[in-house]
Amino acid sequence: MAALPSSAEVAVIGAGTMGAGIARVAAAAGHPVLVYDTREGAAARAIDTIRTDLDRQVERGKLLRTDAESLIGRLHPALHLDVMGRARMVIEAIVEDRDAKIALFRDVERVVLPDAILATNTSSISVNAIGGALKHPGRCVGMHFFNPAHLMPLVEVVAALTASEEAIETVTATAIAWGKRAIRVNSTPGFVVNRVARPYYAEALRARSEFFAGLGDVDAALTESGGFRMGPFRLMDMIGNDVNYAVTRSVFEAFGYDRRFAPSLLQQELVDAGRLGRKTGRGYYAYEPQVPEPHVEESPAGPAPSRVVAHGDLGVAAPLVALARARGILVEERAGDAPRIEVDGVSLKLTDGALATEHERVRPTVLFDLALDYETCTRIVIATGLADGARRGAVAAGFFQALGKRVTPLSDIPGMIVMRTVTAIANEASTMLSEGISDETIDLAMTLGVSYPLGPLAWGTRIGWARVLTVLENMSRLLGPERYRPAYVLRLRALGAAAS
Ligand code: NAI
Repeated sequence: MAALPSSAEVAVIGAGTMGAGIARVAAAAGHPVLVYDTREGAAARAIDTIRTDLDRQVERGKLLRTDAESLIGRLHPALHLDVMGRARMVIEAIVEDRDAKIALFRDVERVVLPDAILATNTSSISVNAIGGALKHPGRCVGMHFFNPAHLMPLVEVVAALTASEEAIETVTATAIAWGKRAIRVNSTPGFVVNRVARPYYAEALRARSEFFAGLGDVDAALTESGGFRMGPFRLMDMIGNDVNYAVTRSVFEAFGYDRRFAPSLLQQELVDAGRLGRKTGRGYYAYEPQVPEPHVEESPAGPAPSRVVAHGDLGVAAPLVALARARGILVEERAGDAPRIEVDGVSLKLTDGALATEHERVRPTVLFDLALDYETCTRIVIATGLADGARRGAVAAGFFQALGKRVTPLSDIPGMIVMRTVTAIANEASTMLSEGISDETIDLAMTLGVSYPLGPLAWGTRIGWARVLTVLENMSRLLGPERYRPAYVLRLRALGAAAS
């Protein structure tokens, strides 16, 4: 099925953050675009904001003046829905409210031709429910852009049960013609990106509210070790805690209040108190008078390592050995033993979701957290158990510092920070595999939609599914089964990996 021709008129309803971005994308692709908003003057203001941004691009030499002017010339504020009679596609980006979206599309249906497509940019409402309430349900498809819409490369095309194949294909081809990567997803709560991303926020909130982990420590762990672009607390402050909380609640509700999606009381309190994030000057962090530099706990300089023995197959942490050698540290290797790096009698182990205190029953242990890439990461997070923690922590810190890393000590939290987050995300991604979404689609969605440094399923494979399963099982044992219940496909993959 072909994309809409660029001569076809497109209408965008709702001229807020998303509507403005979507209108810009459509106009950049050559369409005449009508922009409508119930707030007086909002459509014209949105077009003005686009103009200002385009002018800046022209000044920086990134865009030709003539191209900027023709793009702006294609954007027209609409004062009433009635003028949309010729629109071939109407994209709504109004308030995230099911009844409001249905009421709007019912009004639009009275104005447009029967074959005009009605696309919704909803981030969490069932497109089946919106489409099912219309006179011509087949024409209603989800077209979920990401913020900022003109820059983010992904569009989730939500193939509602009620949508016609023709409409789905036209929306897909049009998104591609607009320069986006389009992935087809089902109308399940949160679609792919917003559902698989829930643990990124939830695990940070749990680490904070249940274990009092430092906000800065969590953010630093996930960016400087985990390779994520922005730490979860800073990101929630940017998205807006009200918006993030609303999406979490809507996914929670839509999954029949499955506890793995349970919203956080901590976030609810912030929303109740009006601490919505950057937009109100205060969220997890205070942004006034200036953007904060959060405190990150740093281990003091530890002793230089003298005797280092690498035991067993270190798996994803193996690059630490090569890095130690490159730094002039002599590393003895012993195959076939329980994987760990022994530094002056202290065993450094990649977290498996169990407590350092439990590991200590076997031998003196310090746990370290997962890193995206142990060679290039700038920070390592460590956790000690109750016994002799200060001395053992200093030995571990000394080793990682000798490798050029900064070290953050954490209390004894199951799964630490990066590992609990990545395994929970990989687990959620695995639940979608049973719903017929492929590994490639999920990984593409998460790398393009929310800029994850690696797709969660590729990451699970890199960690090893058997280890991912062990981490989830240990967290289930220590924190309750409802939150970390391993997905069926994940279990199968772990068994398959163990058998091969
Ligand atoms: P926003 O609050 O910035 O803009 C919404 C606009 O819609 C406002 O200008 C409002 O006046 C207007 N509006 C409300 N009811 C209307 C109606 N009945 N008719 C015409 N205009 C109406 O909201 P934002 O962030 O742009 O979100 C819009 C939609 O996009 C929501 O469904 C949201 O879930 C979705 N979305 C938001 C993303 C984000 O990061 N903000 C990302 C992807 C989707």
